[in-house]
Amino acid sequence: MTAFHQRVFSGVQPTGNLHLGNYLGAVKRFVALQQDYECIYCVVDMHAITVAQDPAELTAAIREVTAAFVACGIDPKKHIVFNQSQVSEHAELAWVFNCVARIGWLNRMTQFKEKAGKDRENASVGLYSYPNLMAADILVYKATHVPVGEDQKQHLELARDIAQKFNNDYAEAIAARGIAGGAFFPQPEPLIQGPAPRVMSLRDGTKKMSKSDPSDYSRLTFRDDADAIAQKIRKAKTDPEPLPSEVEGLEGRPEAENLVVIYSALADVSRESVLKDFGGAQFSTFKNALVDLAVARLGPISAEMKKLQSDHAYIDAILADGSARARAIAKPVMDQVKDIVGFIRS
Ligand code: TYM
Repeated sequence: MTAFHQRVFSGVQPTGNLHLGNYLGAVKRFVALQQDYECIYCVVDMHAITVAQDPAELTAAIREVTAAFVACGIDPKKHIVFNQSQVSEHAELAWVFNCVARIGWLNRMTQFKEKAGKDRENASVGLYSYPNLMAADILVYKATHVPVGEDQKQHLELARDIAQKFNNDYAEAIAARGIAGGAFFPQPEPLIQGPAPRVMSLRDGTKKMSKSDPSDYSRLTFRDDADAIAQKIRKAKTDPEPLPSEVEGLEGRPEAENLVVIYSALADVSRESVLKDFGGAQFSTFKNALVDLAVARLGPISAEMKKLQSDHAYIDAILADGSARARAIAKPVMDQVKDIVGFIRS
């Protein structure tokens, strides 16, 4: 086995607005990983255009996600923060992977089926081949660890399959370059961890919290002020029973479980400890505490985000600097890929 340099990569789409699921399932984890890894965090604007985007809104959303990264505590100097389209190696490797991945593999992707819906014939080709670009995002840096929410698990498995097939298909050319064991690409490991890998809708505890839910009441976002946070949490669906005092008591109560998970993730305590404090309480009491906690945790981030976001020059400079540093890693990898595949380059 070749030892790969330990490196974290992850991406967030600049579509709409970051919600609590993105924060607790991904960005909060990104922040924590900075301690132990070299991290690359990408605003995946090329993924965003797999569905129609208004160009001016896309530009604003790229800056908004970048501001969110920084406001949440990602350090763009120590680590790398950039937008995908500024590093063309992503697109170049994605093309090679379009020719490595099999149609049958992509046909199994549940997210495409969900996103394309009934009108599949009319979905963009980009939406279909989206997971190949995602594999390229990760592997163009030979990243070894990928923190994501649970909904990205299948895409990560595909990235591992693509890495393996590339290594196998080109084993001879790879060996000829002196790379041991045909292991040119690592098998990137998904980090689907933390207390909230799957935050559910506030309106329906069986549905994922998502940007595309038509109800704004289904999610908390970084655009919500304290009043909006309070309103959304007070309106959140619950059941008539008080909170249980044991975690097992949450079984079959998806809305109660979701609110407890959200509380525990925001407070950085276990679900057991939340239930120790609130077991037997009515939801009205628990919701008041959750409102206070959510406002205390999200409010300062939102305020900082607003401030940063309005400074276009500052944000754009972060992205320019991050892109240059990202390219410095991606270019030599892509050059090697070209050599392995047999392209001529000058
Ligand atoms: P995206 O932009 O939809 O979501 C960004 C991150 O947020 C996580 N997430 C959630 N986590 C918990 N609960 C939820 N309800 C929830 N909703 C979203 C997602 O799992 C993700 O980690 N394809 C990716 C972006 C991407 C990427 C990559 C990720 C592109 N290339 C390479 C990792 C590596 C996406 O659409 O995420």
